[in-house]
Amino acid sequence: MNGRDLVRSVRLFGTVRGLRAARSAWRRRRTDAWGLPPRGAERARVPGQVTGAEPAPGGGIVRFARSELLVRVAATGVVFWGWDGAEPEPSYALDGAPPKPDPRAGLEPDKDGGWRIVSERVTVAVSRHGGVEIRTPGGVVLRRDLPPRWWEPVGGGPARWLQRSEVAADARFFGLGGRASGPRLRDGTYRLWNTDPRGSFGPGDDPLYITMPVQLVVADAGTHLAFIDNSWEGRVTLREGEEGAGSGHDRPGTSEVRMGGGPLRCWVVVGTPARVLRRWTGLTGAPAPPPSWALGPQHARWGFGSEREVRRVVAGYRERGLPLSAVHLDIDHYDGHRVFTVDAERFPDLPGLAKDLGADGVRLVSIVDPAVRAEPGNEVYDSGAAAGAFVLDGRGREVRGEVWPGECVYPDFTDPRVRAWWGGLYEERLAQGFSGVWHDMNEPVAFAPFGDMTLPLSARHCLEGRGGDHREAHNVYGLAMARAGHEALRKLRPEERPFLFSRSGWVGMQRYGGTWSGDVATGWPGLRASLALVLGLGLCGVPYSGPDVGGFDGSPSPELFLRWFQLGSCLPLFRTHAAIGAGRREPWEFGPQVLGHARAALLERERLRPYFVTLAHLARLTGAPYVRPLWWGAPADRALRDCEDAFLLGDALLVAPVLEPGANRRAVRLPRGLWFDTASGVAYEGPGQALLDAPLSRIPVLARAGAVIPVRGEDGGTELEVWSPAPGRTGSGLVVEDRATPGTRPAVERYASRLVDGRVVVERVSDAGAVRPERRVRVRGGAAARAPRRAQP
Ligand code: GLC
Repeated sequence: MNGRDLVRSVRLFGTVRGLRAARSAWRRRRTDAWGLPPRGAERARVPGQVTGAEPAPGGGIVRFARSELLVRVAATGVVFWGWDGAEPEPSYALDGAPPKPDPRAGLEPDKDGGWRIVSERVTVAVSRHGGVEIRTPGGVVLRRDLPPRWWEPVGGGPARWLQRSEVAADARFFGLGGRASGPRLRDGTYRLWNTDPRGSFGPGDDPLYITMPVQLVVADAGTHLAFIDNSWEGRVTLREGEEGAGSGHDRPGTSEVRMGGGPLRCWVVVGTPARVLRRWTGLTGAPAPPPSWALGPQHARWGFGSEREVRRVVAGYRERGLPLSAVHLDIDHYDGHRVFTVDAERFPDLPGLAKDLGADGVRLVSIVDPAVRAEPGNEVYDSGAAAGAFVLDGRGREVRGEVWPGECVYPDFTDPRVRAWWGGLYEERLAQGFSGVWHDMNEPVAFAPFGDMTLPLSARHCLEGRGGDHREAHNVYGLAMARAGHEALRKLRPEERPFLFSRSGWVGMQRYGGTWSGDVATGWPGLRASLALVLGLGLCGVPYSGPDVGGFDGSPSPELFLRWFQLGSCLPLFRTHAAIGAGRREPWEFGPQVLGHARAALLERERLRPYFVTLAHLARLTGAPYVRPLWWGAPADRALRDCEDAFLLGDALLVAPVLEPGANRRAVRLPRGLWFDTASGVAYEGPGQALLDAPLSRIPVLARAGAVIPVRGEDGGTELEVWSPAPGRTGSGLVVEDRATPGTRPAVERYASRLVDGRVVVERVSDAGAVRPERRVRVRGGAAARAPRRAQP
């Protein structure tokens, strides 16, 4: 524990709860001392020399002296490899059955005694010592996995292992779930273990709530994603390469993945960033689009404290003409912090409150924590205990931990029966009038002043019937809880798309909903970290997220609050939230100037709602996140790869938030093409940098020339905002309108724009040909497009 951790612990735990947490931490230690004997002596192993190979659909098995490797290329071009008999299933990451093997890809002898599989999109070469190379069809190496190494306890038990890999010297790493220091992952070691960072976090804190063994690697030679499908605790050490490092030779970038157990198996996806995300979400599941209202502005607070205060805040929004879509109730609306209860004194009539707010277009969202107060008479505890729903230790006793309600037990969401039981409890939330759920504390957390704040590693889990312990189940706990919640909402209220977002999760969590930043520290570094999290998670396949606008703790300065608000208004989940005891987060609490500018951001968000709805559906259809790094369409542009302070919102917009105090201008890096400053209308020719005004009233937002953007018109209908194409070029855009019912496929409208005799022409394109759009069209940027300013190199 470092000094800062110590201070945090004392602050959190120097209380009665602290004493109980200390007791629970000792208990955890004792449980593991009994349940997890020390590993003892270990034997190291490498695959050894190749001894033969056996073809199978899509590839085959290559045998070595001390192991064997299964390689399979799917018809989609996605590669799977697994050592020691590891197959794609069972897996928490995959959405259904693994993809079908490519019937045309077969195993062939390679030079030097190795083997290879050649397919249309990728070549996999296995060396005679067990190295695996992923090459483009042109033969360029994207990733070289060196022969792995295992350490097996002599007395039996799970083997630890190490997989070293090399990538191009110019490559950049992204991903690994939600990392506050990203989006570009600098040299260092990143832990794979979902963790509540104790109090609030900033860019230096790692790991956080969502960790994933997913690397997205971008290099001149191409983009690829590598996923080690293993939920055990691990560490990833990344080191960027260097071109012309020693005597003119390139030093490759390296990744070292060390896992404490579990299978050594990997999926690799190659292609453009868009293709990689499409294949990736094909493999791990389409992102569930939130209902349209969840793309509007939302307000949360830990400590509203009463129905009266909720009404006061909502009225504050209404009276000031500020749009608001939802209010989130935190644990203080529970009775004694017990999940699935209501404090009847402070919230005497929740259904009535929900109805009144609903009449104003405001929904209620409920926090749902997994830990259940262990107390006979607590109905949730009694019914869970009767159903055998709670996690037990190796001796068959309930595992208990200290959380908000006191001493708690934990549902084992890795058991399908428990998911069904838990899901049934959401009926109570719906009956109280809630429209969506916010899953929290599901790393899962057991407060502890020392050691990991979670369950004992030896705690037993069902793991879908296979059986295992917390070492394997920990990282998928939040994912499995999200599955329980999502499936329950679909069943209980089939006519509406579920709204669910979860603090913890793992690969594939997008199937069930989104996430948020967790307790990001109030301060300028926290603002930067909140963008890093959204970008990094999007590249791992989780497109819907956003920060606690204003930061979780303390009191932001008016300027910081405003800049956070402006950034948040351009992210999928746009929600103000703060801790109990933190300063206010209502926009009017920061003075009339901030209020005016925040109102502008809110109104613009609402104007862009049809665009956000479109992006949500496109994420479902294609895996492309709403919020994309600038290099999305141009991964070979190195300057874009290193740009971390701006992003693309869909295809059409480029957002350049202000991330530092005192700024009223900022340099914005532009991808190739023509871009309009949406405030001034001035056009800039990329690639290069433009210096743009960023007064307190707004952050720079640029529109791509030719873009067709769906926006809300004054009558509430969807119109098309069209930015003039550059002379000689065309443009395009998509519109997907919401259909509330899950399962119905919304129609995708395609539009094209071009210049005819200096006039902007927009057409709806379909199989039947091009027709005039039925929607109202507003053209912008006409004259400026003919006299662009050149961006600086
Ligand atoms: C956790 C959550 C935070 C919530 C608090 C109380 O810290 O991350 O959002 O307000 O718990 O429930």
